[in-house]
Amino acid sequence: MPKAILLKGGRVVDPATGLDAVRDVLVEKGVIAAVGKGLGANGATVVDCDGLVVAPAFVDLHAHLREPGREDAETIESGSRAAAIGGYSALCAMANTSPVADSAAVVEQVFNTGRAVGLVDVYPVGALTVGLEGKHLAEMGEMHDSAAHVTFFSDDGRCVQDSGLMRRALEYARAFDAIVANHAEDAGLADGGAMNEGEVSGLLGLPGIPGEAEELIIARDLALAKLAGARLHVPHVSTANSVALIRAAKEAGVRVTAEATPHHLALTDTLVASFDPVFRVAPPLRTRADVDALRAGLIDGTIDCVATDHAPHAREDKEKEFDKAPPGMLGLETALGVLIAELVAPGLLNLTQLIDRMSTTPARIRGLVGHGGPVAAGAAATLVAFDPAARWVVDPTRLQSLSDNTPFAGRELQGKVVHTMLRGKFTVLDGEVVHGQR
Ligand code: DOR
Repeated sequence: MPKAILLKGGRVVDPATGLDAVRDVLVEKGVIAAVGKGLGANGATVVDCDGLVVAPAFVDLHAHLREPGREDAETIESGSRAAAIGGYSALCAMANTSPVADSAAVVEQVFNTGRAVGLVDVYPVGALTVGLEGKHLAEMGEMHDSAAHVTFFSDDGRCVQDSGLMRRALEYARAFDAIVANHAEDAGLADGGAMNEGEVSGLLGLPGIPGEAEELIIARDLALAKLAGARLHVPHVSTANSVALIRAAKEAGVRVTAEATPHHLALTDTLVASFDPVFRVAPPLRTRADVDALRAGLIDGTIDCVATDHAPHAREDKEKEFDKAPPGMLGLETALGVLIAELVAPGLLNLTQLIDRMSTTPARIRGLVGHGGPVAAGAAATLVAFDPAARWVVDPTRLQSLSDNTPFAGRELQGKVVHTMLRGKFTVLDGEVVHGQR
């Protein structure tokens, strides 16, 4: 039988119970056996957590793992390693793989491979439409009834343009209380665009995508979610007006949740002046005013959570002229460091709010029991321990991901994961991925 583990003297921050105090956490047989002061080791392995924050491990509602199909860019295993080193215990893997995750066979393959790797729980997102083509609804019921038990559907990367189809998807999803997320980008308005439309795109002479391309679709989808009485999740919100639309819809009782990415919370379109394709992403980086509105939304809860939109791309694909490069940025390994540096250190968000937005709330949205806390006796020992003061510089050559398209290369971040634990087993110990889970 594996030995008990005593996480000694960490600052336990748990939004679910409201606890924010130095406590010991005793872990036995995958479960938290006790949380208290001065707990005795009694033969348990003692792991010193002095100076560390101990919290429920993070949950990412939005990651692209590229398997099946582009295993040169990322695999479920490499993406799981990246997630574990970032402090995550669960992630939702988007459906834009090859083949597309639009059938029971593909979602089961992704789910089972994630379980076999064993570093994070991988929850496949089912495609909304067959082949992401936006024409016919995918077999949502079949994916829901599969071993992967899909309750989250999206064509992410592509927007469902047809309003009638989107309405039917929402109505269908409502039958099993599933969540529908739509990549909000009006095709006509976004056509040919490579970056945010505004002052900077004008100066650079690059074709722009106006914020309205996102806002029109969000406004439509909010109306359709209301009509269908269904749950809508708005992924990677990027503009101030989108935040305002979601805020108003929540006040009106629409069943909507929303996420923002670390890059949209930290970076602006001025970075595109370098013409470095690493700064191309969908939706595009926006203005300072948009970043400030996203931050305000995250603070007041209009934006429920942070999701990474981890989007690895192989170097030969990404290193092209800016407007020819595929959109997407890595996110799993840098999310915590970006959020502490940009939001917690300046006093905009406290640690309880940070952990709520990275763990407790995304776990609740996806309905994941055993993730997102509580840090309390009887709950799953699925935890992260991080140093909130550690400063480190992002070196793309040292990432777990098979790709290196991080927009934070060379940047100093604050906050580093030291240990991650999934159901009582370390997946990361002393900053290193623990292998041999299979
Ligand atoms: O920038 C992005 N890249 N946004 C998306 O929604 C899709 C993603 C990808 O798959 O590369």
